[in-house]
Amino acid sequence: MLNGSFVAGIDVGTTKICTIIGCPQSDGRLEIFGVGLTPSAGLKRGVIVDREDAIGAIRASVEAAQEQANVQIRQAFVGITGAHISSVNVTGRTNVSPGPAISEHDVQRAIQSARDGVPLPQDREIIHEVVREFTVDGEAGVSRPIGMSARRLDVELHAVTGTASIVENMERCAIDAGVGVVRRVLEPIATAQAVVTDAERDLGVILIDIGGGTSDIAVFLDGSIAHTSAIPIGGNHITRDISRLLRLSFDEAEKLKCRYGHALPDRIQENENVQVQLANGHQSEHVPLRLVAEIIEPRLEETFSLVRSNIKRAGLYEHASAGIVLSGGGAKLPETTVLASRVLDNLPVRVGSPRGITGMVDTVSSPVYATGVGLALLAAREGAGARPGRDGQQTLLGRVMQWWERILPRA
Ligand SMILES: Nc1ncnc2c1ncn2[C@@H]1O[C@H](COP(=O)(O)OP(=O)(O)OP(=O)(O)O)[C@@H](O)[C@H]1O
Ligand SMILES: [Mg+2]
Repeated sequence: MLNGSFVAGIDVGTTKICTIIGCPQSDGRLEIFGVGLTPSAGLKRGVIVDREDAIGAIRASVEAAQEQANVQIRQAFVGITGAHISSVNVTGRTNVSPGPAISEHDVQRAIQSARDGVPLPQDREIIHEVVREFTVDGEAGVSRPIGMSARRLDVELHAVTGTASIVENMERCAIDAGVGVVRRVLEPIATAQAVVTDAERDLGVILIDIGGGTSDIAVFLDGSIAHTSAIPIGGNHITRDISRLLRLSFDEAEKLKCRYGHALPDRIQENENVQVQLANGHQSEHVPLRLVAEIIEPRLEETFSLVRSNIKRAGLYEHASAGIVLSGGGAKLPETTVLASRVLDNLPVRVGSPRGITGMVDTVSSPVYATGVGLALLAAREGAGARPGRDGQQTLLGRVMQWWERILPRA
């Protein structure tokens, strides 16, 4: 039965590796056949710090998904994140070559001229780029200029840069785990593919993915990506705060947070307690749950206020009419939406769960899976040779690849 065209996405996160294998359906949705969620190893804040551990963890996640889908993947879309990431919007321009209409070659020349404008210190490289829009003879807002008559073509490009060695290390780990990297995708862009609607992108929306080591940001405006960034604070910091202040092991603090954590202390009764094991292993104590929430709240407030200043600095904060979409494991803390809205000037906030999928929908409905699903959705969109998406990536790089053919059904 499973001999169709399979696509795969791998989210190499700080706390977990998530591999999603799916099959594009004729209605445009992705049917998910395999999900491999395994604990991460060898990563800190999105950066590989132990190669062997990271390779082993990626391999385990891929194998788990392959087992479930009963296929073997050779290539995948892989997510990239970390505090080393920064983004810039640049414009490029070219005179259209003589002929009846704008050609793919003209588009490539305009894009190259935009790329040339990206400030790149020696150790940095462009790791992801998205066309925001084309302008044809002064007429802005064009998404597909090929075939139009014109003299001049301008392009606005969103370029994400990162530290070259960090990105190369990530790719080499995936390859050494047996999976070729078809495309590296900035994680918040992949996440947005899964959880943000087209209407929200048009109106202006902020995606915040609260992971373990970082909180990733993507801002969309007028239908396309306008800003991406990463804040070096995530759920692990909250766990560490709980661990230090209550003198618990990291694992005990993590359990306490995930089971009883809450973003708003004033929603917890004063007499609610829970028994925990102290780090010395001998005593067990009753901890007031309100106290746990009092530890959580300021870290989350700090995170959202750093997000706020980051987006303000980019000059985009006033344009987020559709509000905020949260994803990532950190978004699972009860009432995080309320706290986010409080810090972010009462903008509407919702937790996003993956859309555009069938099969195993319940399994991947948690915000923890959003990035992996988004990567597989992007792989399906591009691998299936679909029309260029709203981000224009296919036209952009001419990378219309029937690459899923290289993902072989297991013998
Ligand atoms: N039920 C829960 N309540 C509170 N926090 C949770 C819950 N489930 C998971 N988390 C937190 O979510 C974080 C992990 O989220 P996620 O899986 O999105 O991160 P990641 O992708 O591995 O990390 P990163 O994106 O930073 O590389 C951890 O800090 C974890 O404690
Ligand atoms: Mg993540």
